[in-house]
Amino acid sequence: MHIKIGAVGLGRLGRLHAENIAFRISQAELTAVCSIVKEEVDTVKSSWNIPYGYYDFEEMLQNKELNAIVIASSSTEHCRQISQALAAGFHVFCEKPLGVGMEEIRLAQQVVTKHSDKVFQLGFMRRYDTSYAYAKKKIEEGFIGEPILIRCYGLDPVSAINGAIAFAENSGGLFSDMAVHDFDLARWYLNSEANKVSAIGGCYAYQEFARYGDIDNGAALIQFKNNTMGIFYASRTCNHGYHIETEIVGTKGSVRIGTVPYKNLVTITNEQGVTNECVCDFLERFEVAYLNEIQNFVDCIIHNKKPDITVEDGVKSVEIAYAANKSLATGQTVYLD
Ligand code: NAI
Repeated sequence: MHIKIGAVGLGRLGRLHAENIAFRISQAELTAVCSIVKEEVDTVKSSWNIPYGYYDFEEMLQNKELNAIVIASSSTEHCRQISQALAAGFHVFCEKPLGVGMEEIRLAQQVVTKHSDKVFQLGFMRRYDTSYAYAKKKIEEGFIGEPILIRCYGLDPVSAINGAIAFAENSGGLFSDMAVHDFDLARWYLNSEANKVSAIGGCYAYQEFARYGDIDNGAALIQFKNNTMGIFYASRTCNHGYHIETEIVGTKGSVRIGTVPYKNLVTITNEQGVTNECVCDFLERFEVAYLNEIQNFVDCIIHNKKPDITVEDGVKSVEIAYAANKSLATGQTVYLD
């Protein structure tokens, strides 16, 4: 059995998802691609021999050969496209964040709940990264006792700053666009929901973000309902590369993932001294996780299973991001229900 997939969004990440589906995911076929950028569709369709190409999402949904839709369009499009794809009878995988406004997110949640016979999975790929999954297993096996604190660094390379500025208008802001991954991890590792959120930050290097009410560096301190703690730092101006670091501290020990973001195991010694290169971007760091998550989506469709990552994970993580935005804007601690 092969799941025929239509992929929407062929930008930085969407193109990789499309390529994975076309060549690396078992029991899947990339049957259609869609983007509002005509050249992206034409290039992918002709160079990979894809049967159908669309410049309009709703037109792709008319194609009843398809079984599932993978959404990697701009974050502002997610909620609408999720609802339309489910209503048209397709299984749906959607990139994070679930959406960029609480109202549209809650509506999308209702649609996902209504179509519970369909597989819906959200793109929190870190949970499918081998190191993050291993850390979860170690915690569950009791290696660090009871988790009491999570510390997360999510630092994007400054080399990608122009793209981040161009993307800022549609990203939902630093906490929603970047730290949302960390908020999801915190809920996953600490087994609890956020209770109160305090955030600070600003435009320290790139004033351009202020135009969209956004920041280039921000931090949040969160207390969870089970009294555990979270410390979060997100930045768009990391000079050494792409640095995603997470530590979970327990009553008897701790686990750390990605403490030094080495590119690989190669150490170079030359006139500059002894150096290890840094991971350059999300595509490199999470290459395997992006594959694993889509394979899981396809496997769930084939074996009639539900993915571990639900629409509620999408809602709860964005709720935290919005609480952080509110705290940043008001200077007050924000309490969640
Ligand atoms: P991008 O701006 O490079 O690409 C966006 C793509 O969506 C383009 O092909 C564009 O033409 C298409 N598009 C936009 N509106 C559309 C519409 N109405 N109909 C059809 N196509 C449309 O963006 P990027 O960086 O690839 O991000 C895409 C999504 O993936 C975002 O939601 C972002 O938050 C998420 N993302 C997730 C990451 C992760 O680690 N899970 C990493 C990077 C992005």
